[in-house]
Amino acid sequence: MNILVLGSGGREHTLAWKICQSKKLSRLFIAPGNAGTALLGTNLDLAVNDFAGIAEFAGNNDIDMVVVGPEDPLVNGIADYFAQQHSLANIPVIGPSKNAAMLEGSKEFAKAFMMRHNIPTAGYKTVTGQNMEEGLDFLSAMKPPYVLKADGLAAGKGVLIINRIEDARNELNQMLSGKFGNASKTVVIEEHLSGTELSVFIITDGKSYKILPEAKDYKRIGKGDTGPNTGGMGAVSPVPFANSVFMKKVEEQIIVPTITGLQKENIEYKGFIFFGLMNCGGNPYVIEYNARLGDPESEVTLPRLENDIIDLFDAVATQTLAEQNISISERTVATVMLVSGGYPGAYEKGKMIRNLDKVRESLIFHAGTRTDGNAVVTNGGRVLAVSSFGSDIREALSKSYRNAEIIDFEKKYFRPDIGFDL
Ligand code: AMP
Ligand code: GLY
Repeated sequence: MNILVLGSGGREHTLAWKICQSKKLSRLFIAPGNAGTALLGTNLDLAVNDFAGIAEFAGNNDIDMVVVGPEDPLVNGIADYFAQQHSLANIPVIGPSKNAAMLEGSKEFAKAFMMRHNIPTAGYKTVTGQNMEEGLDFLSAMKPPYVLKADGLAAGKGVLIINRIEDARNELNQMLSGKFGNASKTVVIEEHLSGTELSVFIITDGKSYKILPEAKDYKRIGKGDTGPNTGGMGAVSPVPFANSVFMKKVEEQIIVPTITGLQKENIEYKGFIFFGLMNCGGNPYVIEYNARLGDPESEVTLPRLENDIIDLFDAVATQTLAEQNISISERTVATVMLVSGGYPGAYEKGKMIRNLDKVRESLIFHAGTRTDGNAVVTNGGRVLAVSSFGSDIREALSKSYRNAEIIDFEKKYFRPDIGFDL
């Protein structure tokens, strides 16, 4: 099969790496890809939201399947775009339709969906310019900290957790006035949940689902979970507290009602669902849905998946996923992200990356990199994910940290304490 992967981060390099292990693969293309994906297939100079360009390439190059990495093209309707055009309709898109991707594309839609289907989540109120007073009253009735979320996609920046009521009122005002553009013209105010977060993933064909390895990611830039949020500084899979008792609750209280809820509402979902969960005293609550895999979670979950991933994608396309058996390695995988100094604030790009050839015992997944002649240079905030297998977290991490030291670029930074709390 000829496969086209959309995206350019660590998640997409990992997907490409996993797809390359399939016996069914003929040719692999990645749009736009990075210096890592260029080693596995052909990078295309096409943006993920250039549907016309992607469709033209797919039509002219015998593409048999499109695998979508990031949320943007899903929320913008790439699956519908292919399904609606006669010449493209036979090319399956692995990723949900625009309607189904609303689970990620609108926080308000996701909360209302969870309420309709009794899925445990924090209490909330939706506020727009029309009912701002009600929003302020809702805040006054709450205890701090206050959680304010832009309804729409805001590049991972749309969630604010605020301690003082005056600041929360002020932020609500600013969000409704367009702090995050149209994304925050509607704001969801939520009760604050305390506990430990984890990421649970499934793949579904709309009829049945399979649970993939879970992971814990480390979002803050600084040691001990301090400082601003990032896209993710590292991850570990499996998660020790996600034992069979806890995962049974996740399946019964969250996964099954989500799948049956989608079915009841006639929303066809073919792709991955990422459940961002909070473990509150042994009970799982949904913080958010994502319509895609996580990053850097993919860099630890996909290496543990022992199936041929094209078999799973094929089964999604033909709605025969129920016939597949999932096989997951019992080994631990940990990843450490190497980032550009200054990230998640301002940082420089174009720094030469050295010593990639000296890495032993780790898998290197490229995130923000590009090829410059014969060199590989930095091209983003998150640059490389260093993933390693181990018999436990400690062993996996010590390999990743050894290689995180060896790889070199100017102003390299990584968190020294991934997995510290496990
Ligand atoms: P989200 O973009 O929805 O994943 O939110 C970003 C981060 O904000 C999450 O990973 C959590 O750490 C935190 N967060 C979101 N909602 C809540 C909540 N209701 N209670 C506590 N923390 C939250
Ligand atoms: N690591 C969190 C995410 O992919 O959204």
